[in-house]
Amino acid sequence: MSNNDINNSFAVLTMSDKGSQGKREDTSGEYLQKTLVKEGYVLTEYRIIPDIEDTIVENLIDLVDNKKISLIVTTGGTGLSPSDVTPEAMIRVLDKEIPGMAEAMRNASLAKTSRAMLSRGKAGVRKDSLIINLPGSLKAVRENLEVVLEVIPHAMEKIQGGTSDCGAL
Ligand code: MTE
Repeated sequence: MSNNDINNSFAVLTMSDKGSQGKREDTSGEYLQKTLVKEGYVLTEYRIIPDIEDTIVENLIDLVDNKKISLIVTTGGTGLSPSDVTPEAMIRVLDKEIPGMAEAMRNASLAKTSRAMLSRGKAGVRKDSLIINLPGSLKAVRENLEVVLEVIPHAMEKIQGGTSDCGAL
């Protein structure tokens, strides 16, 4: 991270029926926590919840509106299984979508696996917070996060009202 003025709190929200019942280790959520802490973000919340649309909506709203967390990275529930409803919850929560972020992740991921096109993950803004969906597997989390990591600080700065020059690299 480069900009010290932004609020850099983050939360990891894992969508997993099995994980939420303690039946599956959340390696993706652990990876996200470690990686983002290394990048300089401050881990504020970590939750594993079931793939229930209303529960996802409630948690996202709580993390943004009550806990005021600036960056929320989710893993899981973006695919095509009947239980995958993360994108449907996002539609109910977001003020603005950032289609380019989700498209960039899918685009870069296609070079690794054609199955990347099966993720329906979104990215967007609610109030002053950035929310990014990643697929569920550890491999997919690694491959998708590396695509957006570099741009997250600038996105957060803009969302929080920063006025830095977008043209400067
Ligand atoms: N993206 C990358 N980079 N690497 C992957 O291995 N797996 C895909 C896709 N995106 C994958 C990926 C697969 S197999 C699925 S089904 C979807 O993400 C959705 O995953 P989810 O339902 O666990 O969210």
